[in-house]
Amino acid sequence: MNLSPEPIISARQIRKHFGSFVAVNGVDFDIPAGICYGFLGPNGAGKTSTMKMIYCAAPVTSGSLTVAGYNVMLDMKAVKSQIGVVSQEDSLDYDLDVWQNLLVFARYFDIPRKTAERRAEEVIQFLQLEEKRHVGIREMSGGMKRRLQIGRALMNNPRVLILDEPTTGLDPQARHHVWAKLHDLKNQGVTLILTTHYMDEAEQLCDTLVIMDRGNIISEGNPWALIQQHIPYQVVEIRATEEVKTEILTRFARAIGDAENLSDRLLIYTSEAEALLLEIQEADVPTKTVMTRRATLEDVFLKLTGRGLID
Ligand SMILES: Nc1ncnc2c1ncn2[C@@H]1O[C@H](COP(=O)(O)OP(=O)(O)OP(=O)(O)O)[C@@H](O)[C@H]1O
Ligand SMILES: [Mg+2]
Repeated sequence: MNLSPEPIISARQIRKHFGSFVAVNGVDFDIPAGICYGFLGPNGAGKTSTMKMIYCAAPVTSGSLTVAGYNVMLDMKAVKSQIGVVSQEDSLDYDLDVWQNLLVFARYFDIPRKTAERRAEEVIQFLQLEEKRHVGIREMSGGMKRRLQIGRALMNNPRVLILDEPTTGLDPQARHHVWAKLHDLKNQGVTLILTTHYMDEAEQLCDTLVIMDRGNIISEGNPWALIQQHIPYQVVEIRATEEVKTEILTRFARAIGDAENLSDRLLIYTSEAEALLLEIQEADVPTKTVMTRRATLEDVFLKLTGRGLID
């Protein structure tokens, strides 16, 4: 890992306002070079707004934000030259094929034609799009388009790659393929900044992550530390009617450290998971299923944001 003492991205009290609406409410973060840094949070938390300020697609309302030492408001060109962007929305050119999409994009960075062709070739090989080289975007599947967007973001050899939900809508195989490529890029020293709604993706990829909610950062740490910090227990997961869930919460209150009553499940966090499971099974409460499992990042997310991932 290429950890440098100076963070490659540094934010101090950055805010994003849309009229009177506050999308990002004064957040601070320092992203060391060479790591994968994640932004999690429910829909509307302010993740994309934060990404857009980093890659100069939206002005910072107030606060200070630097990328590789350059101020995003004053040195846009320098900032953009350091960054590759895979935006949340598909931004490919549908009138062009794969090869042309890569070459046209290279023009934004004034990359000479010969260099651009060599780079496009490397990118195509890296993302295994050889067979699609001259295929139009309309004829490509969602996973291939996502791969091409990542490839396009790599055309300028960025030091920082911003990935706003890079694997949403991909099948498990395609997601694993993207994860493997992101691991490769990190090993090459590229700093990855990722937003995702997939907690397993965040656990797999992120060295450090923040959880945002309503424009604020409400927690920061590495995935395992966050789990340890917020839910040092095991989880008993119960599916049952609302009445039965309420009965369990009252009857077994003694053994329950903390609980989250979701619409479809009751999650009980306890240091006595196995014993509680047995007690519930032996008691005459009509549950649909009861099981124990380790706590996950998803539990942390639900606990901190108080609601499901996708509202
Ligand atoms: N151009 C805009 N004008 C007005 N409000 C906006 C604009 N862009 C975003 N917002 C609002 O800012 C808030 C944060 O949006 P943002 O896109 O940053 O959320 P997000 O965390 O990326 O959510 P998601 O997980 O759904 O992608 C939302 O309430 C959104 O409606
Ligand atoms: Mg978003």
